[in-house]
Formats: sequence, structure tokens, C-alpha cells
Amino acid sequence: MKENIYNFGAGPAKLPSPVIKQIQEEFLDFKNMGSSIIEISHRSKEFDEMLYETDALFKEIVSLPDNYRILYVHGGAKMQFSAIPMNIIGRKPAKKALYYESGNFARMAANEAKKYGNVVTVAKSADTNYDRIPEFRKEDLEQDASYVYITSNNTLFGTRWHEFPDTGDLPLVVDATSEILSRKMDYSKFGILFAGAQKNLGPSGMALVVIREDLLGYAPDNTPELLNYKIYDEKHSLSNTTNTFAIYVINLVLKWLKGQGGVAAIEKINEKKAAYLYQVLDESGFYTGHAHKDHRSIMNVTFNLPSPELLNRFLKGSGDAGLTALKGHRSVGGARASIYNAMPMEGIEALASFMKEFERTNG
Ligand SMILES: Cc1ncc(COP(=O)(O)O)c(C=O)c1O
Repeated sequence: MKENIYNFGAGPAKLPSPVIKQIQEEFLDFKNMGSSIIEISHRSKEFDEMLYETDALFKEIVSLPDNYRILYVHGGAKMQFSAIPMNIIGRKPAKKALYYESGNFARMAANEAKKYGNVVTVAKSADTNYDRIPEFRKEDLEQDASYVYITSNNTLFGTRWHEFPDTGDLPLVVDATSEILSRKMDYSKFGILFAGAQKNLGPSGMALVVIREDLLGYAPDNTPELLNYKIYDEKHSLSNTTNTFAIYVINLVLKWLKGQGGVAAIEKINEKKAAYLYQVLDESGFYTGHAHKDHRSIMNVTFNLPSPELLNRFLKGSGDAGLTALKGHRSVGGARASIYNAMPMEGIEALASFMKEFERTNG
């Protein structure tokens, strides 16, 4: 196995090394059953216990209030772009939803929701290529809407909502795919929070959905069973064969996070990691950050170099130095360092040194 690789990919992303090691060690024999986790029944006692344990761990780690339900939903984050409107846009006769367009994923989510109701894009930051979070004003909220939707951390652009908007009686729906469990959040402020698992939770293809229980039960009868949150809740996410492996990995990641001191502790480390890289950008006359300083993400750090040639040389050189997957998304260009919970400080230090040396020799 290659040593000393720091993977800065946006997702699927680096998971904690001790978790990856444990998966390898346990893979042939899950809980002394003589079979692998991917070979046992999702209805076995052993799996069931693990599912309950995973719920309990998540609940404890985020201090989830009792009136919220945890669902493990197929199809990753994008599937929820459809599932959310299907499940709750019909709560009110206007079948209306309010979207804040802070990036590509927010725009895609709004476009998907248009298939099921009336979508209002309340504010957007497309004019500045999503380098900031659009302005939130409480007076813009149309009270006949069924929900308000935001993407809390914008993976491609490196921005985040530092404060969650106060939407009053309108349920706030949050796509927290690229920052779940990275900072303290008061879940009582959310109607629904969801996250594709492939960054801070586990493997891709599954989303963890947290929903306030009074929002269950509004899906029309023709909603596909596997997109109906109420059925997920009633069947404890086992209406069909779930992705047993994904839930197992989420379970291990949650245990790892608990061992790190939980969200409050990892948030401090994440802030330190991000500040370290932003300082390199701010002290440089060479790199330019994409995100407006007041809207910077602590999970995705986006920046560019003075020319495409230098960018290519930077990406090649960093890859050769074991700092991988730093290429930015095509809609922003440049480079992006995704520094989720599992990225150790040593990886940040290695990247910062490389960036400084590259600037010294190429600037
Ligand atoms: C914020 C956000 N939302 C949605 C998605 C889409 O996730 P998925 O590929 O699981 O559908 C991503 C993927 O990176 C994301 O970063």
C-alpha cells in the first residue's frame, strides 16, 4: 500500500484511517458469524442491533431531540432532491417551496422540485459564481410555502452558511452533505436535514435523513415506496434490502467520532485546519481564494493560480508529492482541498508547505 498519501478529494472522500483498517480486519467475519457484513441478512439479530446502535450513536453525537427520526435512504443526496418535494411540498395547498440558490447543487435541487410544485428561488449568488451565500431576509419568506431549502455547505464553491437562517414557522430543509458532523448544529432548528454519506459518514449511494416527525405523512399515495419517508420510518429503513455495508461503515465512523470527543471537539480541529490553509491564501500574492472571506467553508477550500499552465503544474506536482485529488470542480476551475473530518492536521501541514514552496519557486 502507498504510504503518506493525503487524499483531498471532494467525495467519495477520505474516511478515518482506523475505520478503514477495522473494516479490513473485520471484513471476513462480522461479529463471529463466520460471514462478512455484506453476506448476512439485513433482518438478522446482529444487523438489527447494529442499526439501533447507529441510530443511538447519531442521536447522542448531535444531541438529537426526541421528536426527530433518523432514516437511511437509498440513492445518495441527489435522490433527496426529489424525495423532499415529494414528501412535503404538498403540506399546504399552494404546494410551494422556497429555495436559496447558493450553488449547483441548490440549483439542481430547485429544478427537481419544480416537477412537484411551485418553486420560488428567493435569492441566488450566480452573478458572482456562487462565491458567497445569497442574502437571507426574513421578510422574503412567503408564508404559504411548505418549506425553505438551503445547501448549508457548498462543496464546489467552498462556501457555507455560517449561521442557519431563522425561518420561523416554515420548516427549514438543509442539504448538509459536505459538512454533516463537522460543526455543532442545533437540530431543533431543522425540519429536515440530509446528507449523502460519502464525505463525513461512509460510502456513497446512501443518504442519512433526519426529519421532524410532524413532517411525515404528507407524501401523496403515488409516491414510490422507496422514496416515502413515512414508510422508511415505519419500517426502520428496512422496507427492502438496505445497503448493509454503508450502515456498518457509518456505525464505525460514528464510534470513531465519539472517540475523538464528538462534534464539538472535531469542530475546533476543523476550524484550525481550515484557518491554516486560508492563512496561506491570505498571505500569498500568488493564490486567489474563490470564496468571499465572510462565507468561507471549513470543509472545502477553493483557490486558483495565476494561469492554467501553473495550475496544471501545481496539480501534477502535488499529486507526485502524495497530495492527491486537488483539482477543482469544472464550474469553478482552479484547485480545491476538501478537508473533511478524517483529514489529519499532518495532511494540512503537508499541503500548506507544498503550496508555499510552489509559490516560492513559481511565483
Ligand atoms: C452539497 C451536495 N449535495 C448533493 C450532492 C450530490 O450527492 P450524491 O452524489 O450522493 O447524489 C453533493 C455531492 O457531492 C453535494 O456535495
